[in-house]
Amino acid sequence: MMDALTCLTTRRSIHQVSDSGPSEDEFRIMLEAASRAPDHGGLRPWRLLVFRGEARRELGEVFAQSALRDDPGTSAAAVGRLRGKPLRAPLIVAVVCRSREHPKVPAWEQLASAVCAAHSISLAAHALGYGAVWRTGGLCAHEYVRKSLGVEDDEQLISWMYIGRPRRRPGPGRARSVEDRVTDWRPAEPDTPSHPRGFGRSGERAGLPEFFRRYRRKQ
Ligand SMILES: Cc1cc2nc3c(=O)[nH]c(=O)nc-3n(C[C@H](O)[C@H](O)[C@H](O)COP(=O)(O)O)c2cc1C
Repeated sequence: MMDALTCLTTRRSIHQVSDSGPSEDEFRIMLEAASRAPDHGGLRPWRLLVFRGEARRELGEVFAQSALRDDPGTSAAAVGRLRGKPLRAPLIVAVVCRSREHPKVPAWEQLASAVCAAHSISLAAHALGYGAVWRTGGLCAHEYVRKSLGVEDDEQLISWMYIGRPRRRPGPGRARSVEDRVTDWRPAEPDTPSHPRGFGRSGERAGLPEFFRRYRRKQ
């Protein structure tokens, strides 16, 4: 199995997968990875709906019906495409976020935890030699889809994670620079006025807030 850093630094979305899906043991590893997502307050703000085999056909039917309910005149071709969507992968995991009122953990943190769980599933899939792509689109929020799948009013369907063996060996993906996203925060010269919030422009010498300056003096 690939090591953790290789997994983290080589993951990419895999859109085309074969019919070969993870075994029960492999899927369990993906679930364990999800369960390790950081979770402020231990609220477990997510749950998963798993579609395999014939269940994917039912999901496709739900997708098709959602379009027909919106517009009974939807073309047969469009309905057929929706029916076929879930058959693009042997395993689909729908990630549902349920954030609740909490005095210390705002809704965005609970959503963040659910996102981490979803991403962990895709990382575990990659580590095991599977490909995954996180799909969303209008079907996530469609009322008919939500009701048909038992998604409650206080829940948000945040991902259809499609998982299967990559059809071909994935390339490295597009190169990404990270340097332009990073500010190297360094102490200001003693005569440089500190920046009020301590942020400097990328690549420039950033100012130190006063509290940090004092903290450093104590060291
Ligand atoms: C919140 C979210 C929603 C996404 N929705 C879709 C989608 O609906 N369809 C799709 O093909 N990919 C979707 N993606 C996958 C991205 O398109 C994909 O990550 C992007 O193309 C970059 O590819 P990479 O993951 O290989 O870097 C989504 C990713 C995220 C994080």
